[in-house]
Amino acid sequence: MQYEHVLVDRQGAVGVVTLNRPKVLNALSPALIAELSDALDRFDAEPDVRAVVLTGGPRVFAAGADIGDMSERGPVEQLQRDQTGRWARIAAFSKPLIAAVNGYALGGGCELALMCDLIVAGDTARFGQPEINLGIIAGAGGTQRWPRTVGKYVAMEINLGGAPVTAQRAYQLGLANKVVPAEVTVDVAVQLAARLAEKAPVALRLAKESVNQALELPLSEGLAVERKNFYFLFATEDQKEGMRAFLEKRKAQFKGR
Ligand code: COA
Repeated sequence: MQYEHVLVDRQGAVGVVTLNRPKVLNALSPALIAELSDALDRFDAEPDVRAVVLTGGPRVFAAGADIGDMSERGPVEQLQRDQTGRWARIAAFSKPLIAAVNGYALGGGCELALMCDLIVAGDTARFGQPEINLGIIAGAGGTQRWPRTVGKYVAMEINLGGAPVTAQRAYQLGLANKVVPAEVTVDVAVQLAARLAEKAPVALRLAKESVNQALELPLSEGLAVERKNFYFLFATEDQKEGMRAFLEKRKAQFKGR
């Protein structure tokens, strides 16, 4: 599939999607978001792809929603464009999704990184919600996912102050899983994805779903979701294979069944 604003690549069982509007720092136009959402849907439906890396390439992740496109819009137009639906599809991606972030991840770019499951930050990465400087607020999860990740006070600093945090601070805050030299960010993310791609796909999916439910539900309900997912996995061939392989001291061959 050929897209205009994203590049799509496969490295074994790992899919790689690269945002590709370098002249405007990968500003997230509606067309780019539509293509991104479509590319992720295709990877979600492809059984041989077991994990995906999302990146903006070596210089920038994404400098946010396209301000040129948004500046003269009214609320009804914003509502009718159904950006929210597209973002929701990205957030609902069922396989491990790893953000490989170099340079600016601002506004919608930061929110996109926050929708991913793990974040590998290059040492040039900057995460922030500068919307307040434009007279608006975050609209794709920035006011909700920051506090769930780093707590209220840092989230207030980010959303009210508008200044970004460095890769190192993001790591200290628990937002980035690793900080690496910017030249190797994408490679490190692909290696990490390849390791996850070796695990049992159904277990990965339910582990992801269960962790995400922890951010939505009270503890007792979250524990119930986890327990049902745990029991369900005993119906998979991969559970039998994983446990037999352990007992036979060999590497498990998971099939996603
Ligand atoms: N939407 C549309 N265009 C954008 C953009 C955005 N969010 N972010 C950057 N661009 C464009 C710039 O207009 C510029 O285009 P030009 O060369 O035609 O003038 C180009 O990308 C390069 O950006 P520039 O500002 O010259 O780079 P910089 O290195 O000096 O500054 C930033 C980088 C990220 C600090 C700055 O571009 C910025 O503040 N961008 C907006 C971030 C933002 O508010 N995002 C939230 C949007 S809701």
